[in-house]
Amino acid sequence: MEENWREKLEKAPLSRIMEVAYENQVLIPAFNVAYLPMVEAIMEALRETETFALLEVSRPDITRFGAKSFQAVKEEYERFGDLAFSRLHQDHVPVIDEEGEKVDWKSLIEEALSLGYHSVMIDGSRLPLDENIRVTRETVMISHRHGVCVEGELGSVLGHEKGPLPPYEELFQSGQGFTSPEDAQRFVQETGVDWLSVAIGNIHGAITGAAKDQKKVEARLNIQHLQQIARVTGIPLVLHGGSGIKREYVLEAIKNGITKINIGTEIRQAYERGLGENSNIEEAQKETKEKVKELITSYYEIEGSVHILSKKL
Ligand code: G3H
Ligand code: ZN
Repeated sequence: MEENWREKLEKAPLSRIMEVAYENQVLIPAFNVAYLPMVEAIMEALRETETFALLEVSRPDITRFGAKSFQAVKEEYERFGDLAFSRLHQDHVPVIDEEGEKVDWKSLIEEALSLGYHSVMIDGSRLPLDENIRVTRETVMISHRHGVCVEGELGSVLGHEKGPLPPYEELFQSGQGFTSPEDAQRFVQETGVDWLSVAIGNIHGAITGAAKDQKKVEARLNIQHLQQIARVTGIPLVLHGGSGIKREYVLEAIKNGITKINIGTEIRQAYERGLGENSNIEEAQKETKEKVKELITSYYEIEGSVHILSKKL
């Protein structure tokens, strides 16, 4: 084992770590922090399994669950975070949100930049293509000045919106909302975005009503469609709605350009289960840590990824 692996990972820019992960097909999971004490639990799991991951927080984590604010998560990350195993990502800054409302996206991005987040995501997926390109390009310009990576989204990863989804099989078979490879090529060229979130059969876990506590449908992925996107983009691709995707599809996706997978619902539900009726935070952290470890060791089988990554840095 390399002696200076820790130092190499601590010092490497996230853009480089992601590039190395993409080239070597090493998965970087991104765990959503829906409650502040999850930061400590996720970090413990990463240290114990010697795995590199992102900790991320989205607007719904703050408005609908217990992440409080981008600043609160940053402060928690300062207490428990460790750059040898992780970086901090601002997830989903929508231009139009899940309720169809316009969002002051620029000030949210600027907030993350001034707080020192390592990467941000601008989500213009509810906009027409030209508008999405314009907003994403602007985000890239602002963020790259700070050395911060940008993730964009093209296509519709449904599930956060109110109301019932069409039956999953119907969605999958019709390819409705899937990212178009032609649009993806143009989007990447014209925006200069670092990573691209794609829709290939993945859906988000629900964040409202009774459905938010239920098990997600087991999604599949159209791997051929992913291959077409990967061929014309050449940058790390991102899979949102990571909870509950059938394992064999996830493993194929990693071999075909997916570098980052976002996992929200599964670990939030583990935390809430542990919390129970008596708000037992310790138990909630224990459940979260166990779930993260299980995903790393038996689902993705990426234990020890810090050593693979550091060798190639
Ligand atoms: O951005 C967050 C993720 O896409 C989480 O999706 O809650 O279905 O795991 P999930
Ligand atoms: Zn997402």
